[in-house]
Amino acid sequence: MFANTLLYLLLSACLLFSTMSAPVVETQPVTITSKKDYHEAPNSILPVTQGARVARTLVLRESIGNLVTLDSKDGFPVAFSEYYIDGYNTGDPVLILLNISSTWRNIKNSEDGKISFSIRTGDHQPRDHVNFNYPGGIASSTSGSPRISLKGKIVPMKIDDPIELAKLEIKFTKRHPDAKFWLPGSKISAHGGFWAKVEIESIYFIGGFGDRAFIGAIPVDLYHESKPLDDAELSELMEGISLNDKKFQGLVDSYQVPHHVGLEL
Ligand SMILES: *[C@@H]1O[C@H](CO)[C@@H](O)[C@H](O)[C@H]1NC(C)=O
Repeated sequence: MFANTLLYLLLSACLLFSTMSAPVVETQPVTITSKKDYHEAPNSILPVTQGARVARTLVLRESIGNLVTLDSKDGFPVAFSEYYIDGYNTGDPVLILLNISSTWRNIKNSEDGKISFSIRTGDHQPRDHVNFNYPGGIASSTSGSPRISLKGKIVPMKIDDPIELAKLEIKFTKRHPDAKFWLPGSKISAHGGFWAKVEIESIYFIGGFGDRAFIGAIPVDLYHESKPLDDAELSELMEGISLNDKKFQGLVDSYQVPHHVGLEL
């Protein structure tokens, strides 16, 4: 009983302090005793059709992914970041691979060319401004935000039409200005490279926390048929969501892990 009162007092003091020092978030005093206190109602979970649209929005918005291959020397999975764009608005990442890269060597040396390509909210160039609000997501939390794993193959692209090629280069270098120096075929490039796309065979998507986001496999056809969310649809869907984010930030600020109370570092 006494311990509870002490805990309450400490918590209130912490709350008061955090409210004073962090004016950005409207922190409301909340008592969290079980996971029910920070979970949404199960019927708020987005269906797969919405999940597919969120997935397409994520892939369109972001521009850096982790390309995972098996090291051809020791068999370990290795992930390295690659610049990409949703080059043709199909949801299929288009990237530039360098012939000299260990990633391409691993793919060439593998029996079946299997790769996975994963993208998360926040995967973009430092100077790029990218919206990180998603229906079912919690903008202030990376664990509560969308990420995707695309399994499939890397397919080198042959682009014969010079206009089509120039358009792709312009689109790519808008998101990745430094890639001007290693465009495939460029005379100033230090290493030879080529355009390639991720040919998707299966998709696993985590839209955020399981009490509100879609988590699971997305059929590849559904993914390709789905349209990224436009701004109007997004703000409509986000009306409830932005409150969720605020509420979540409040919960994070107000909760103190019980056995941390009284400890100082
Ligand atoms: C690099 O690899 C691509 C794809 O296999 C190939 O088309 C191209 O000829 C290679 N370039 C060089 C310089 O080896």
